[in-house]
Amino acid sequence: MQRLAPALREDNVPLDLISLIKTILAATKEISFRVSQAHLGGLMGSTLDENIQGEVQKKLDVVANELFKDILLESGFVKAISSEEEDTSVAGEPKGKFIVSFDPLDGSSNIDINSLIGTIFSIHESRPELAADDPDQFKQAGHKQVCAGYVLYGPSTMLVMTTGQGTHFYVLDRTHGGYLLVQRNVQIPQDTQEFAINMSNQRFWQQPMQNYINDLVAGDTGPRGKNFNMRWIAAMVGDIHRVLTRGGIFTYPADNKNPNKPYKLRLMYEANPMSFLVEQAGGLAMTSQGRIMEIDPSDIHQRVEVIMGSKNEVTKCLSYYQ
Ligand code: F6P
Ligand code: MN
Repeated sequence: MQRLAPALREDNVPLDLISLIKTILAATKEISFRVSQAHLGGLMGSTLDENIQGEVQKKLDVVANELFKDILLESGFVKAISSEEEDTSVAGEPKGKFIVSFDPLDGSSNIDINSLIGTIFSIHESRPELAADDPDQFKQAGHKQVCAGYVLYGPSTMLVMTTGQGTHFYVLDRTHGGYLLVQRNVQIPQDTQEFAINMSNQRFWQQPMQNYINDLVAGDTGPRGKNFNMRWIAAMVGDIHRVLTRGGIFTYPADNKNPNKPYKLRLMYEANPMSFLVEQAGGLAMTSQGRIMEIDPSDIHQRVEVIMGSKNEVTKCLSYYQ
């Protein structure tokens, strides 16, 4: 099995980007260790604080965020970072070539139940005309990402990453301390009989999504003429990992549960990086209105509707909105 850096060099990934990726991965190895030691190290449970999104911060959220932030800002490659756990962007090296958005610990409600969690990251080139402390650095569409990935702290610690030349799977090999390439050019099957959605929000969805899911649930007695299975890990990293591995459709649609918050998932550090990975694996990543990676961001913590996964199934879902 090939080591990560030679695999990236083979794909002609620029050396400065490889160095940044190695920096990010150093942080994930440390987070992986802390996650495995959370009980023993007194890192279970919540802090007394809320983040900018009004969500209670878990102790591990805070630790992972600080680790990631410190290592990135000290690296010299990074002009600014933005994180789910930071109110606004944080300036780094003024001459840094890249900016990084991240969700340090996605799926944090799974921490206390020893279930799947992960780190999601997205890299853009910095904008030389803007100051390092200008949050507008981050107002770049997803199709301009130069790299995106996540690390899943599961039974194996796995890295899934793209630099725009396919989506590849790597596994952390603790015997030598690095990531090894285990699957190149992952392809999402175009058809699927599996869907992922939080069904408890059903009555709050718009009518097209209600109709689509009703038809899936009707199975071989309904218009689709086949049975569907449902899975919901409650961590986007886990659900998207399953979609990348064996296909499926994952959606967090618009809902009117809270009229001030029609969408749940964040564009910069959840929807965009996952869209890049899914599209590079032959899938589709959409809102009901268009391609996620074409959205021009208006805010670092902007939320969007997400419908992604197997090409034919996403297309089918979108046909209900026409
Ligand atoms: O970060 C947001 C998130 O935890 C995602 O990882 C996950 O897909 C979703 O929220 C879970 O939402 P819910 O709490 O509605 O199940
Ligand atoms: Mn998250």
